[in-house]
Amino acid sequence: MAVLSLAACVAFLHLLLLFSSSSSLRLAPKAAESSDSARHGSGRTAYHFQPAKNWQNDPNGPMYHNGMYHLFYQYNPHGATWGVGNLSWGHSVSGDLVNWASLDAAIEPTSPFDANGCWSGSATILPGGVPAILYTGISADGEQVQNVAFPKNASDPLLREWVKPSYNPVIPLPADVPGDFFRDPSTAWLGRDGLWRLAVSAKVGNAVGSTLIYRSNDFRLWERNVAPLQESRAAGMVECPDLFPVAEPGAEEGLDHAPRTGTGVRHVLKLSATDTFQDYYAVGRYNDTTDTFEPEDDGDDCQSWRRLDYGHVYASKSFFDARKNRRVLWAWANETDSQADDVAKGWSGVQIFPRKVWLDNDGKQLRQWPIEEIETLRSRKVGLLGTVVNSGGVNEIVGVAGTQADVEVVFEIPALEGAESFEPNWLLDPQRLCGEKGASVPGGIGPFGLLVMASDDLQEHTAVFFRVFRHHDKYRVLMCTDLSRSTTRAGVYKPPYGAFVDMDIEAHGGIVSLRTLVDHSVVESFGGGGRTCITARVYPEHAENGNSHLYVFNNGTGAVKVAKLEAYELATATVNVGDDGLIQPSSMRRGEA
Ligand SMILES: *[C@@H]1O[C@H](CO)[C@@H](O)[C@H](O)[C@H]1NC(C)=O
Ligand SMILES: *[C@@H]1O[C@H](CO)[C@@H](O)[C@H](O)[C@H]1NC(C)=O
Ligand SMILES: *[C@@H]1O[C@H](CO)[C@@H](O)[C@H](O)[C@H]1NC(C)=O
Ligand SMILES: *[C@@H]1O[C@H](CO)[C@@H](O)[C@H](O)[C@H]1NC(C)=O
Ligand SMILES: *[C@@H]1O[C@H](CO)[C@@H](O)[C@H](O)[C@H]1NC(C)=O
Repeated sequence: MAVLSLAACVAFLHLLLLFSSSSSLRLAPKAAESSDSARHGSGRTAYHFQPAKNWQNDPNGPMYHNGMYHLFYQYNPHGATWGVGNLSWGHSVSGDLVNWASLDAAIEPTSPFDANGCWSGSATILPGGVPAILYTGISADGEQVQNVAFPKNASDPLLREWVKPSYNPVIPLPADVPGDFFRDPSTAWLGRDGLWRLAVSAKVGNAVGSTLIYRSNDFRLWERNVAPLQESRAAGMVECPDLFPVAEPGAEEGLDHAPRTGTGVRHVLKLSATDTFQDYYAVGRYNDTTDTFEPEDDGDDCQSWRRLDYGHVYASKSFFDARKNRRVLWAWANETDSQADDVAKGWSGVQIFPRKVWLDNDGKQLRQWPIEEIETLRSRKVGLLGTVVNSGGVNEIVGVAGTQADVEVVFEIPALEGAESFEPNWLLDPQRLCGEKGASVPGGIGPFGLLVMASDDLQEHTAVFFRVFRHHDKYRVLMCTDLSRSTTRAGVYKPPYGAFVDMDIEAHGGIVSLRTLVDHSVVESFGGGGRTCITARVYPEHAENGNSHLYVFNNGTGAVKVAKLEAYELATATVNVGDDGLIQPSSMRRGEA
């Protein structure tokens, strides 16, 4: 792809948004303003993706195109609630996936085939470099149909305007699918036979949660494959299917959807289950002749697969980032306070900080890690090296603002023998186990971990921690996020979150790592190098006006060593600042490099 020799300067408010000669868009981050409660009141985030106001849910059509990252998202332009009937595709662009400028909505419910809402979908870069959007429209008749849209001017580096051809819908509702169970087309991919494929969710015959495959040779006429890609019979309706190839175990680079025949390549199918509002994935084999997917270890019911995140994220979607040869994941983290709270604060919903995803060495699970660009926000740094935290110990990490932080800790257990023995039925429900054994329940090894968003008197704090158990001659590592004391406010949903970390801690020398991103109302944690992720929303009262503290703690009887801890304060990114129309076409100009 030809590099744009474009250097355009766009000034809006006091921000500089510029394309460098390598055509990447940069928005200068502002200095950390942790005391800026006007902006951050009610948990507004500093570096997670949010529109300036109103409701957002699913990430849509993420892509990297002509040196620019695009993120579209389900958006209600009229308020902070879901707003069925009004959903549009909000649109923002970025040069680094961290700082974002918002544009006008890309797609709005203005046509007969989407008059009642423009719902989720994906972007596909067609040969020649022109992107296409596939999305679900709720038609004037109230039926879910699949539509296509193209840039009005494919040379516009920001792809501001999108055109919906009048031949839409390209995929009408099939006869065996009820009108409100047919949605969320995936990114399309070309098969070795030269035909396009896309995956779309449907309830077939009123009972089965199916992921259907449609094929096309012109992106316009689509024909359904007889066999579904996958069926999750017990799971009810699924949505937001994401099928993507992963390189051989342990290779961190991402793959695009080009036809692949190599034996090293595996595929991941991610589905979002409406019964539980959780995202599940399986590693398996995709047969590009039959267009079917077989999970390798797990059964057909996606609700028995691994979860992408054991906290609260939903409707995730990944894309191949050709700029850095990696696969990047977005997902929606909803509010867990009340709808009345959302209306009062004027917004609802954040996206997770984008994560790189790849297949672990074990070939069975994904690893997820915040994209490296987060480092551009790092300012103050403090650390610990080799500190032993004894039973009952609490060590404050002083020197970084506790509301905007990136903390990486490597814990080392000097003596694993102290682990409590494990009851096999605990395997069934780790979330419940985290509820029964919260941060204040002492154990043999653990609970040990971080206390984040802690008030001066520790009355409010969110604990992210591990416990190690002995199970026959193996050890099991449980990871929990305990929200029970996250806020003194009433009416907030505070479930225990938890999962096992699928790793052999003994083979790792008794070491387990934890990374936690703190952003006002978001606590995103990565256990065991990103094998287990837990995203939580928190609404501490103290953070509205006071300082938040950060601690390492150990409430187990056995000592735990902090082999290494690095905590960074993070600056406030420039994320969709302002109300609307932030980039004025008239202020765009071609300029010197
Ligand atoms: C949808 O939009 C209309 C205006 O077009 C507005 O009157 C209505 O309140 C909106 N509904 C929601 C739920 O936001
Ligand atoms: C398309 O966009 C390019 C780049 O911004 C611009 O030079 C050109 O005039 C646009 N074409 C139309 C028809 O608007
Ligand atoms: C894909 O399915 C076809 C038809 O069942 C079969 O002949 C072929 O061996 C399969 N390919 C792989 C890689 O399993
Ligand atoms: C949003 O959060 C609530 C808790 O307030 C939860 O019960 C619900 O399932 C969540 N919705 C989605 C779509 O994740
Ligand atoms: C550790 O345990 C003590 C005693 O039960 C308790 O007071 C304290 O709050 C616990 N720490 C955490 C982080 O829960």
